Amino acid sequence: MCGLVGVIGDDNLRDEIFLGLHKLEYRGYDSAGIGYIDGGICTIKCVGGVDKLQSITHAINSKVCIAHTRWATHGGPSVINCHPHVSAGKSVCIVHNGIIENCDYLKNKYNINCVSDTDTEIVATLIEIKYLRTKDKLQSINEVINELKGSFALAILFDGDNSIYFARNISPLLIGFGKDKMYLCSDVLGMPNASKYIDLPNLSYGYITLSDYKVYHNGSIANCNIVDVGIDYTSASLGDYPHYMLKEIYEIPKVLKDTISYYVKNTKLVNRIKECVHRINKVVLIACGTSYHACLMGEKFFNEMGYLAYSCIASEFVYDSIPIDKNTLCILVSQSGETADTISALAKCKKAHCKTLCITNVVSSTIAKNCKIVMPIKCGPEIAVASTKAYNAQVLAMYVLQYIFKNKKLSTLHTHINKLIKLLDVSVIEKQSIKYIKHILSAKNIIMIGKNADYVSALEASLKFKEISYISSTALPCGELKHGTLALVDEDTLVIVFDTISKLRDKTSNIISQIKSRGGKILVISNKENNAANYMIALPNIKERFLPLVSVIPMQLISYKTCVACGYNPDKPRNLAKSVTVE
Ligand code: M6R
Repeated sequence: MCGLVGVIGDDNLRDEIFLGLHKLEYRGYDSAGIGYIDGGICTIKCVGGVDKLQSITHAINSKVCIAHTRWATHGGPSVINCHPHVSAGKSVCIVHNGIIENCDYLKNKYNINCVSDTDTEIVATLIEIKYLRTKDKLQSINEVINELKGSFALAILFDGDNSIYFARNISPLLIGFGKDKMYLCSDVLGMPNASKYIDLPNLSYGYITLSDYKVYHNGSIANCNIVDVGIDYTSASLGDYPHYMLKEIYEIPKVLKDTISYYVKNTKLVNRIKECVHRINKVVLIACGTSYHACLMGEKFFNEMGYLAYSCIASEFVYDSIPIDKNTLCILVSQSGETADTISALAKCKKAHCKTLCITNVVSSTIAKNCKIVMPIKCGPEIAVASTKAYNAQVLAMYVLQYIFKNKKLSTLHTHINKLIKLLDVSVIEKQSIKYIKHILSAKNIIMIGKNADYVSALEASLKFKEISYISSTALPCGELKHGTLALVDEDTLVIVFDTISKLRDKTSNIISQIKSRGGKILVISNKENNAANYMIALPNIKERFLPLVSVIPMQLISYKTCVACGYNPDKPRNLAKSVTVE
């Protein structure tokens, strides 16, 4: 989704701003632009990549610069709609993340004509109108944000002023402190030369200069904590890998190790989770996309333990009438912790006085800040839009919860995971997977099936596959095939069968026969040989009950390889954003 960065400094502004913009690219975007002051407000914008913007930006003769990567919501990707937006009188320039829900109302109220289709341009002109009256920049910003409905992180330039002003509501915004620079950024990854930062409070506004900053809330100074960035930027760089997605798949063993080690050491957090156990009678797991699939896996674990457990897609949960109350444990799963649908779902949980626990990779995120208990997954930054390592770690977090709820020792789980990691060689799976890309590419239909936890793996595999290969695929439980989708099966159909549960193997074999007798080809992903399969990928020989942690890895790799074979960029699939911050 959109990213914003601002820099103040005496030199190297061009390098710094493009460094930040490049780091924000992973979020997904379709156009980019910068704004600065050089004898008046100047903007440079383009549809396409940051590289393109950089090639048309020859120098920035300014002490301040703001920049933006835009993921189109209000109005298509075009130079006019691209940020920054400049006020009608050309004295205010802004970049904006989020959505102004009442922009049409404000346009009518103030009789403002905008040249773009965006919900942002109106804000620039509104600040200008207020400033012309008040002659006070902070007061004008405060008045404007009190009129805005929706979410916003705003970086604002006033002509003739070498400060960057800001305001935020819901959408994240940080002040960064560098050696001889000050930053404003929507994401800590976008200011790699900052050593410390402030995570700005909701509904705050203020400004930064080269040597100072002020943060206000409702007219009064807001107290803010300055914290160390504490990010290992090497984990956010490619190293020798051609793409982040491949790198992140290869990081899965380490991520599993780091995540379980964290819980074994963190008894305080484990005890807090234990306290929940006695007071709940229902578990609701809520998320979107890949994280939702981790919920489906968790739901099975809770059901096995005798809990009423339901997984809900966040955008549906908000309008569902599923009963929840103070005895409900709501588990919100979000890699980024900034997914708008999941944030809205969390608001509903809190309104109903549920217990809230989140599983997230970003402990400073909005979701983490608003949940009673925060369960981190220790993935390091996940840059590729298609989530891989975070999924495996989210599923591990579900095992951690199962152990805690059953009052079993986490050290035992630790031992199991260590054994698993020793047997998990991603390169061995990669070598097997490559062989089948030609069959995938020649198939007319691709169907993925499985029973029970294997069905969840099929769902996640199918999402991953279509997300980056742009080839349609469908996932369903084995038993459902004969209720409709079997009509698709012919000689040009490839059915990918997840088969990791020994007690269900006979049933799965029946389905394989039904497919083969209609000419369909079968690719089995399993820890056991399957003679009926046309093609086979062997999973590592680990304990059966831990296979859900690894069974999707072959399809993560196949999706990646297919995407690359088709000439697409797996890290930035079309139309998608890493963190979906709009509903
Ligand atoms: O950051 P979140 O886990 O809340 O994101 C949820 C989904 O947007 C995300 O998992 C999405 O489905 C991925 N791109 C899938 O690879």
